[in-house]
Amino acid sequence: MERIKQLDEKIEENMKNVKHKIAILSGKGGVGKTTVAVNLAYALAMKGYETGLLDADIHGPNVPKMLGIEHENIYGDENGMEAIKVAPHLKAISLALMLEKDVPVIWRGPLKMTAIKQFIGEVKWENLDFLIVDLPPGTGDEPLSIAQLLKDSNAIIVTTPQDVALLDSRRAVNFARQLNMRVIGIIENMSGFKCPHCGKQINLFKSGGGEQSAKEMNVDFLGSVPINEKIVIAGDIGKPFVNERDEISEAFMKIVEKIEGKLAG
Ligand SMILES: Nc1ncnc2c1ncn2[C@@H]1O[C@H](COP(=O)(O)OP(=O)(O)O)[C@@H](O)[C@H]1O
Ligand SMILES: [Mg+2]
Repeated sequence: MERIKQLDEKIEENMKNVKHKIAILSGKGGVGKTTVAVNLAYALAMKGYETGLLDADIHGPNVPKMLGIEHENIYGDENGMEAIKVAPHLKAISLALMLEKDVPVIWRGPLKMTAIKQFIGEVKWENLDFLIVDLPPGTGDEPLSIAQLLKDSNAIIVTTPQDVALLDSRRAVNFARQLNMRVIGIIENMSGFKCPHCGKQINLFKSGGGEQSAKEMNVDFLGSVPINEKIVIAGDIGKPFVNERDEISEAFMKIVEKIEGKLAG
């Protein structure tokens, strides 16, 4: 018990250096949560904000791959661990960097929570304007336990435009509310696909559902990100797509500006 209390205090101490925490949530996996987390963090850093990215998705820690830092080593001493410097103003850390590659995490219950608490408590953040946290997907035990560690956090919900996904996103909004997080809004990802040959818009997973769901839940709609091959490639080669200058990155930057407008100042 004493040890857990110490860890809680350590996390609280570390989080004192962070101005705005933003947890990225989704009702289920595979909707683009990590893609949004990585590109949002990268975009904020490009704007000059001191930004940290904490990959807290224990079972699918994909942040290092998407940032191209999966071969980096973590350094630390008795005072804590250093996050990896990814780009100017951007540091990131992931449990994946401490685990053996491709080995699934099979800790159970209390051990798992102690490990994740220790991990979050040991990372040293210097003064940060933003800390983006990629949470495990869904609204179960794991995202719940981790979200509870992030006091006064904001939340962004990522969804795809289908009906089932939207049900999940409503659940995610309620989850954030129950944890007293401030819901900044919903992002609709994989919203429509523009045919590269004829330019026609094809709504593979429908479109507009994120906005409708935002209205119903009385939260802001932050914008939509289309399905695009460049996003897949960017994720695979570890270079955030927001680094490019094109239609997609412009659309994403508009979302970032909305978030910035709601939090900065
Ligand atoms: N808008 C998009 N267009 C095309 N592919 C996408 C888009 N968003 C995400 N992806 C791809 O879908 C997969 C799942 O995305 P990811 O961000 O890992 O989801 P999650 O973290 O919610 O599980 C990844 O391969 C990613 O590159
Ligand atoms: Mg993910």
